[in-house]
Amino acid sequence: MHPLLTIAKRAAYSAGTIINQQFEQRHRIEVTEKAPNDFVTAVDRVVEQDIINIIKASFPDHQIIAEESGVIGADDSEYRWVIDPIDGTTNFIKGNPHFAISIAVYKKDKLEAGLVYQPITDELFMAAKGQGATLNDRKIRASKVLPEQAVIATGFPYRHSELMPKQIKTLKKVLETFPDIRRAGAAALDLCYVACGRVDGFFEFGLSEWDIAAGALIAQESGAIVSDTNGEFNYLKTGDIVAAPPKVYKMLVKKTHD
Ligand code: IPD
Ligand code: CA
Ligand code: CA
Repeated sequence: MHPLLTIAKRAAYSAGTIINQQFEQRHRIEVTEKAPNDFVTAVDRVVEQDIINIIKASFPDHQIIAEESGVIGADDSEYRWVIDPIDGTTNFIKGNPHFAISIAVYKKDKLEAGLVYQPITDELFMAAKGQGATLNDRKIRASKVLPEQAVIATGFPYRHSELMPKQIKTLKKVLETFPDIRRAGAAALDLCYVACGRVDGFFEFGLSEWDIAAGALIAQESGAIVSDTNGEFNYLKTGDIVAAPPKVYKMLVKKTHD
């Protein structure tokens, strides 16, 4: 296994143990609204610190960017870790088990490794650049279905009301083209579900880097095409993303493009 993934896996399993314990007692957990519709729990913060401690113990010089803690370490580091301690916090708060830990690592500004771990189902998605993607150590591939059979995942920009008209316009075009849509509530898992064929495409506007960095590499390594909604390749910065296997991608990106 790639040495970066060995440490990412150690961190994800440690974090997963904490999350699983806390999930049972979630009614007692303190919830704070960081911004309108943007919730964080005490568990997000504890889990994030645990992941950071484990990474730092092995790689003290690497830069880390984490959703709740911000930037840690020097900008000139060759490696940069990007962490979302719980992707799908709203689901977590509501007792819906569809949430995950997301950990990505860049080497010289290129994605090198990605891991997404869903602790309740004990499903571990991983990818290293050029080495394919796995689910619980078995190789996964994106689906081969035709657009007329494709189920498309999306997320609604509930924190960015200015993006809602575009979302609704796009949703209409996507629904008129493909047979069905899913909104499960965790972008990192949406990308992994593209990677293992549980959905046949995904698009969303206005995401953050920690939501998508790991999942984007996993989707790519499974054979999916990942781009901006306009077909360019700045999605890690713009947060507007489309991911789908080649047969579906062409049609999906056409519909998400303005
Ligand atoms: C959110 C989830 C959700 C997406 C949101 C994200 P969080 O992340 O990925 O599916 O629609 O835009 O912010 O806040 O639960 O880590
Ligand atoms: Ca997230
Ligand atoms: Ca989060």
